Amino acid sequence: MIGVFDSGFGGLTIHEALLQRLPALSFTYLGDHRNAPYGCRDPGEILEITRNNIDRLFQRDCRLVIIACNTASAVALHNLQQYWLKDAWPGRNILGIIVPTIEAATQVPWAINYPVYPQMYANHTVAVFATQRTVDSGTYPVEINQRCPSVEVVQQACPELAGLIEAGAGPIRLRGLIRTYVAALLETMNGRLPESVILGCTHYPLVKNLFQEALPKSVRLLCQPGAVANSFEHYLKRHPEYLKDMPAVPLRTYLTTGDPTQVTALSAGFLGRSILFQGVDRSAPWITAPAAPLRIAARGGL
Ligand code: DGL
Repeated sequence: MIGVFDSGFGGLTIHEALLQRLPALSFTYLGDHRNAPYGCRDPGEILEITRNNIDRLFQRDCRLVIIACNTASAVALHNLQQYWLKDAWPGRNILGIIVPTIEAATQVPWAINYPVYPQMYANHTVAVFATQRTVDSGTYPVEINQRCPSVEVVQQACPELAGLIEAGAGPIRLRGLIRTYVAALLETMNGRLPESVILGCTHYPLVKNLFQEALPKSVRLLCQPGAVANSFEHYLKRHPEYLKDMPAVPLRTYLTTGDPTQVTALSAGFLGRSILFQGVDRSAPWITAPAAPLRIAARGGL
């Protein structure tokens, strides 16, 4: 079983791409709707709730969990891999979604964390729309510039967007907000245009058409779900051990920490079909391992 986790609905954009690419595998999706949005939370809180949710997926026999959330990948993943995973769940693994995105944005494999020339996007400007916490982490500019020093990375935080998407806000409200964020980015750039854009929050592909509408036509939108699916398929070829005990008939399970009836009803608005969410036991203790010390690191298995 493969676990896919996000603060709420956003991770479904990654989950859908994985289902299309790897239809024979079984997946359990967990949305932490009770705690969404994560993007403006304190890093210590993000670390704790992320660990609790990954723990839940491991308890449900997931051998591998994908954090389908940029915020949690940027803030918590390195810490959990370094200080929690090996003791709490030996033999299991956690992957993030920022590594494949950086690889796609730079066309440089993650392991090469220094500039290699010639560079495909040498003089490009890459714009990143993301949550406040992802922007504050500096992960995208640091990692892109480590590989491509002359690429300019401009970030635009969209503090209200994921929360409004979660709440099922309508297109008029979302369109207005997205236009404001795009205008703010273009103002920072003094009239220049980015060559490409990373929607660095998994909620944003749910409103990709509104971003496309607001952005100048020349701008290339990088597809994070596609990049993650490519990378994950290759990862599984190198690590077939995580496919052990995979059910013969592919299972699809959708879990939420929120109210399953409400979450199921809202889900129909996102993917064009209703998804039946089950509740996880809210009263069950969340933590099985001692609290890990918080250390925010920009590198290492994002
Ligand atoms: N979808 C998540 C991300 O990719 C989190 C958004 C939020 O909960 O604020 O950052």
